[in-house]
Amino acid sequence: MRVGTLWDKHLAAFWGRIPSTRAAWATVGAAFVGGLVLAVLLWPAPSVSPNPSPSPSPSSSPTAPLNPSPSPSPSPSASPSPTGFDKEAFSIDDPTSKWVVVNKSRPLDPLDYASSDMSDLSPVPNGSWQYMRTEAADALRLLYAAAKADGVTFTVATAERTYGDQRVIYRRWVDEKGQWWADRSSARAGYSEHQTGWALDIYDTDECRLQYCFSRTPAGKWVAAHAWEYGFILRYPEDSVDITGFIWEPWHLRYVGVELSSEMHATGIETLEEFFGLPAAPTY
Ligand code: DAL
Ligand code: ZN
Repeated sequence: MRVGTLWDKHLAAFWGRIPSTRAAWATVGAAFVGGLVLAVLLWPAPSVSPNPSPSPSPSSSPTAPLNPSPSPSPSPSASPSPTGFDKEAFSIDDPTSKWVVVNKSRPLDPLDYASSDMSDLSPVPNGSWQYMRTEAADALRLLYAAAKADGVTFTVATAERTYGDQRVIYRRWVDEKGQWWADRSSARAGYSEHQTGWALDIYDTDECRLQYCFSRTPAGKWVAAHAWEYGFILRYPEDSVDITGFIWEPWHLRYVGVELSSEMHATGIETLEEFFGLPAAPTY
């Protein structure tokens, strides 16, 4: 074969260069020992090379987390972030916390919890009689102003809903569409983040109000691209019903604060369950 022939030629050439006399072997041996001694003398000490360790000690790290104190963890499965993001900076259990995670396995406590520290949503259209927690309402005003500056407007559908409001809405869906459908689209009373005052639904055109086609309206596209810049996430992403328990709701915005929304945007993690390492909540 061609390759074999070439290889044979290289081998022959190599072996052909090997000295054949005793004197020549002695010369080769001396050169080898001399080379070894020189190499040992000249080899740089390992301590002068840059530290390649991937885990520098916390005391010398310039990127140590802001709150490295080992306080007891409220979320045992939350893992340390490689970016240094502190996943325990706010409670995920307390409904007054902007990071609270409410889902089918994490009901509000008490079930009829009523939110506080509320502000109306003026001047967002239909917002003068709708409420969110003040921090979220202020962020929504900024988001709306930015959308408007880009030539996009939207209208508030609902923001805060009380336990009683949620009970009426859920029952109406059960009556109209049956329980299986209702449970994928509407939370039972005590299980809705609308009850916390941190969430709202918006719409653009009437025909796409609370419909998937909202995602194709100017407002739907704008919030999908920019809501995170103002501290909001789209809480129920497409194809996540097995995690969040609810079908895609491109109209449902949840305020979590710009630190968390930016981190979720940067990491590409779309659901709060996945971000905080919580179990999926497809059913009650
Ligand atoms: N539509 C959302 C899941 C709610 O009812 O809270
Ligand atoms: Zn909603």
